[in-house]
Amino acid sequence: MITKELVEGLNDQMNYEFYSAHAYLATAAYCSAEGFDGFATFFLAQAEEERFHGMKFYNFINDLGERATVTNMPTPNNEFNSVLDSFEKSLKHEKEVTRRIYKLADMAMDQREHATMTFLNWFIEEQVEEEATFDNLIQKLERIENDSNAFYMLEAELGKRSFDANEN
Ligand code: FEO
Repeated sequence: MITKELVEGLNDQMNYEFYSAHAYLATAAYCSAEGFDGFATFFLAQAEEERFHGMKFYNFINDLGERATVTNMPTPNNEFNSVLDSFEKSLKHEKEVTRRIYKLADMAMDQREHATMTFLNWFIEEQVEEEATFDNLIQKLERIENDSNAFYMLEAELGKRSFDANEN
């Protein structure tokens, strides 16, 4: 039988994923207010993806025969200095998500909870992708810092992003 401690850990991470959606919505709002609609679209899609992550935890907790508890969440950061800053803060956020997932995976491993370990493996792989995406975009933004054409081309490219749960 799964321990209360592990269920609580899964529940905390469910809420943290929903908080991540909140944080990316705030990031999208900044981009939108600054007139960067393409970057705003990118972050809105990211917010949807985080909600999808939260629902994966919600469904898993239900499948375990346990009850998910939805908590309130802190106000996310709403202050950004630039588009580059918004991506740097996103990478920092993703590193924190990774740290939390690893901690949870360590707990599942210690408790020999194989089903939970398998469930968390999906997130471990996902975090590699999440961090790589932001890392790559930060490098691009740094490279094109003084090239407004390249900046708007990148914005147009990211503005095509949409979230499709079937691709995840
Ligand atoms: Fe759900 Fe971006 O971590």
